Amino acid sequence: MIPANELVRGYRLFEEEYNKAAVSVLQSGWYVLGKNVESFEQEYASALGADCYCAGVDNGLNAIRLGLYACGITEGDEVIVQSNGYIATMLGVTQNGGIPVFVEPDKYHNMDPDRIEEAITDKTKAVLVTHLYGQATRMEKILDICKKHDLMLFEDCAQSHFSSYKGVNTGLFGTAGFFSFYPTKNLGCFGDGGGVVSKDKKLIERIKVLRNYGSDYKYHNIEPGFNSRLDEMQAALLRVKLSHMEELLANRRKIAEAYLSGIKNPKIRLPEIVDGAVPVWYLFVVNVEDQQGFRDHMLKNEIQTDVHFPTPPFLQPALEYLGHGEGSFPVAEKDCKTVVSLPMMDYMSDEEIQKVIRVANEYE
Ligand SMILES: Cc1ncc(COP(=O)(O)O)c(C=O)c1O
Repeated sequence: MIPANELVRGYRLFEEEYNKAAVSVLQSGWYVLGKNVESFEQEYASALGADCYCAGVDNGLNAIRLGLYACGITEGDEVIVQSNGYIATMLGVTQNGGIPVFVEPDKYHNMDPDRIEEAITDKTKAVLVTHLYGQATRMEKILDICKKHDLMLFEDCAQSHFSSYKGVNTGLFGTAGFFSFYPTKNLGCFGDGGGVVSKDKKLIERIKVLRNYGSDYKYHNIEPGFNSRLDEMQAALLRVKLSHMEELLANRRKIAEAYLSGIKNPKIRLPEIVDGAVPVWYLFVVNVEDQQGFRDHMLKNEIQTDVHFPTPPFLQPALEYLGHGEGSFPVAEKDCKTVVSLPMMDYMSDEEIQKVIRVANEYE
């Protein structure tokens, strides 16, 4: 069976280094925030771009939640998000009392820049884009809109570490970028982890205070904060993975390029690449009219697939109170019914890649 993803493969690639890093944390006697967290924050920020800063937090959702909180998003503020994707993006807004306002995706599965302005009201405070599946959103028009309407711009980069648009890494376009280091992510740890990245040093300093009960120095609390700390074990393991990022991204690129050139089946719509974007292939998502039929065909041939995501966030019971229903955002709904994620992970053998291509081409 070829799995849709198998995390242990990523561990095995650098097993000795991970083991060494883990043991060194265990032996250090220091487990939450500390030297590894500090070093990881510096290493990640400088790998992403010049003049940016990072605050490590406990997960991607809390990166969004704290980031929006620190930027003043509060009760009744509207934040524009996309109608497809993962619910964490929206929960980061709602947990601050904000209201997610949905905008349909474009053919690249990202927020459609041409549909944003019609969603702006006098309560709109920010646009929060998600660079879904590892590909950057078309940012130019969005930057103009935010400037014109005086809106903050945030990026959910949980799926887009080191993915760039016109030479700029995602996370660095607006006020702040929010990252998840959940194990499945391209830069994933071995538990939960997240990070906020910004060029605004003061904002990152505030998040470092907020993540630790609002404490600016030991046993001194300047504001009521949260407990959203990154631990030393995850930071140490992230440092190992970060040091191998180029190789890992090249592995994924190789798989994606083989799929893109090898799959030639009119029933399978391949992902399209945004002009100027360099995707990092967090997922390789195709569209097939008969989603289940295609998945069954793949599984019958011992290939697992996945669906990211079967239900659009606005149709989740958790967000029912927003008052949307079936038909509210048909583009997102249609996408959810047709997307299929092919196997994509940190390592696949050539035989596996070729088998996925062959079986996908045999689908009728
Ligand atoms: C687009 C998106 N945003 C946010 C998150 C939340 O990240 P975490 O699971 O680390 O809270 C995820 C992943 O789970 C995600 O895919």
